Amino acid sequence: MQNDPFMRTYSPRQEAMARAATQQAAAATRPASTAATSDLLAPYMVQSEPYYRAVADEIELYEAAYSVRMPMMLKGPTGCGKTRFVEYMAWRLQKPLITVACNEDMTASDLVGRFLLDSNGTRWQDGPLAVAARHGAICYLDEVVEARQDTTVVIHPLTDARRVLPLEKKGELIQAHPDFQIVISYNPGYQSLMKDLKQSTKQRFGALDFNYPDHDTEAEIVAHESGVSLDVAKNLVHIGERARNLKGHGLDEGLSTRMLIYAGSLIAKGVAPLAACRVALVRPITDDADMRDALDSAVTTYF
Ligand SMILES: Nc1ncnc2c1ncn2[C@@H]1O[C@H](COP(=O)(O)OP(=O)(O)OP(=O)(O)O)[C@@H](O)[C@H]1O
Ligand SMILES: [Mg+2]
Repeated sequence: MQNDPFMRTYSPRQEAMARAATQQAAAATRPASTAATSDLLAPYMVQSEPYYRAVADEIELYEAAYSVRMPMMLKGPTGCGKTRFVEYMAWRLQKPLITVACNEDMTASDLVGRFLLDSNGTRWQDGPLAVAARHGAICYLDEVVEARQDTTVVIHPLTDARRVLPLEKKGELIQAHPDFQIVISYNPGYQSLMKDLKQSTKQRFGALDFNYPDHDTEAEIVAHESGVSLDVAKNLVHIGERARNLKGHGLDEGLSTRMLIYAGSLIAKGVAPLAACRVALVRPITDDADMRDALDSAVTTYF
């Protein structure tokens, strides 16, 4: 079966695994040139353990996905822990993490690299994706749908069995380093027809769903991150849950864990809970007077 050519055709994942194993074996015998490489990626190492409270089996699933270098998509609403999770995983796996915040002005050159003019003439500078692919980092493309589709397709050859990045302007084909992995984040609520990932992009990724954690877990996170007591954190989470029930009934998006932490941080600094909740929870999320009243009264129920 091993030499069956059809097996290869029908199992791109297996091919990627075999390729990663070969590359890993090659890396093990690689000469001392890796010293310069690790210097280059040193600023991207996550130095101390980020606080991350597991919500389900996402850590184990991500570890398994990394072991086969499966490109991963983290899906979920804003402020629910996607960025924190990828930082934690990079720390746990002891791999450098290069994060790119995507936006609609971003071009393929911003990711891949460009020629720069200096006193000695022109010089090529790798973009963040090329640095990650060449030297072996986890490359996290945050809010990837914000990028134009022609930009997104540069990741295609990196996210299938080929694992290559063509630098067309430079005339170079980078074979991705065995440690390289690509991770993207994606908020399924924000997509319009014009702004969504192509199926051919989506289908290159494994996906983990993120959401606001259950009550007790979220309270634990809010207390830890903001410094308020667990009781105060629980009240904040109750308010958050009330607001989340209004999603689709006047609110576009529920209150995020991030917002609850903001409110907690103000309370921990001595701001009265009512004022803290107005500033950090209610005012940012809606301009509608009735909705503000509804949220304010939810706040007064708990504080
Ligand atoms: N499971 C968790 N463990 C620890 N902290 C968490 C967790 N979930 C959320 N947080 C806290 O919530 C904050 C917001 O999370 P994060 O920045 O990771 O959100 P995000 O999903 O990346 O949002 P966005 O889509 O807006 O970028 C974090 O800074 C962290 O303090
Ligand atoms: Mg984020």
